[in-house]
Amino acid sequence: MSIIDRSAVSPVPNALRECGRGAFAQRSGNMSERLVCVRDYEKKAKKTLPKAIFDYYFSGADEQQTLADNVAAFSRWRLYPRVLRDVSQVDLSVSILGQRLSMPVCVAATAMQRMAHPDGEMATARACRSVGTGMMLSSWATSTIEEVAEAAPDTVRWMQLYIYKDRNLTLSLVRRAEKAGYKAIFLTVDTPYLGRRRNDVRNRFKLPPHLRMANFESPDLAFSSKEGYGEDSGLAVYVAQAIDPTLKWEDIAWLKKMTTLPVVLKGVLRAEDAKEALKYGVDGILVSNHGARQLDGVPATIDTLPEIVEAVGGRAEVFLDGGVRRGTDILKALALGAKAVFVGRPILWGLACEGEKGVCEVLQLLKDELHLAVALAGCQSLKEINRSLVRSGLSSRI
Ligand SMILES: Cc1cc2nc3c(=O)[nH]c(=O)nc-3n(C[C@H](O)[C@H](O)[C@H](O)COP(=O)(O)O)c2cc1C
Repeated sequence: MSIIDRSAVSPVPNALRECGRGAFAQRSGNMSERLVCVRDYEKKAKKTLPKAIFDYYFSGADEQQTLADNVAAFSRWRLYPRVLRDVSQVDLSVSILGQRLSMPVCVAATAMQRMAHPDGEMATARACRSVGTGMMLSSWATSTIEEVAEAAPDTVRWMQLYIYKDRNLTLSLVRRAEKAGYKAIFLTVDTPYLGRRRNDVRNRFKLPPHLRMANFESPDLAFSSKEGYGEDSGLAVYVAQAIDPTLKWEDIAWLKKMTTLPVVLKGVLRAEDAKEALKYGVDGILVSNHGARQLDGVPATIDTLPEIVEAVGGRAEVFLDGGVRRGTDILKALALGAKAVFVGRPILWGLACEGEKGVCEVLQLLKDELHLAVALAGCQSLKEINRSLVRSGLSSRI
């Protein structure tokens, strides 16, 4: 008998069977094909996807300093585990905005998922159902709000919202999300204009001709016009034409008045803004730099999380996204006060590798890694994870 009973520390969950084979179960056949971490999925996706599509998914803004830092910053925080605490059972379940999930790892909105796989957002939603987590659907999805709801009616779904210059159009997205059973609005507040992603400029990025932003009728708003994007990133031109750059705090009051759904601000990086958001009655703050795709040079999200958690003081739920690639990253974010984390690119890599099954595997991989990290840190449930588990590596002299 082995000394460590791995089945108890990391039991094979149902989702793994539903995925067909999980990341850790991908052991038959060519050993070099085993995908055992998110980075492996990224490498395979890079080989699989056409260059302009991989570039769009992968890129950050400008020099991509923040892109690198989002990932690197996690390594600057050190974990301080407790020992001798019976971790034979570990409970990762959590409530997010009133919805019970199997783990504190959810799917962030990423636009145009059908470029990665023909099933796109519907595959992602089904994978979330298998693993028992929630999905944030992009306003710029290549499947409609209703199609995704129908594909996975019992998946916890949230709607990511961009505020368009046309407020009636914006409201119609909210109404459709409400009607289709989405549980919250994540309002993106960091995109008055699109960040300058150099490869998208070089590639004059556009949607492939068979795809469109499915939630919009007119070719202009569906990002499927044949003309009009010139030499720039087509998406940067689209945003300048359609998205409202006058957005300000009063618009949060407007949105809160217009919907009964919880509203989360996505893209907050400073304590002052988090405090201001509370005055407008927001239900949550997603600490995010848009996957480093907007303003280059901003801090890694994990580094700005503590001041926002402190400013919010438990009056709203605080979430984090950006650079989360490992179970230990998730544990660090939870220890610094995030209620849950969201992942963007890892889902696209899973989708590109193997559609629904690939997304399921990536989510299950993160869940298994988190399970092990929580157990090795000496915690039986998320309630036991607290600030004492992490210290900034720079000040800890190791
Ligand atoms: C390809 C791609 C498309 C994205 N599309 C959107 C979007 O439509 N709306 C939005 O609010 N954020 C969007 N984001 C940002 C993500 O929601 C999230 O903040 C970010 O991906 C998290 O960082 P990560 O990719 O390192 O996990 C996108 C990110 C990527 C990489």
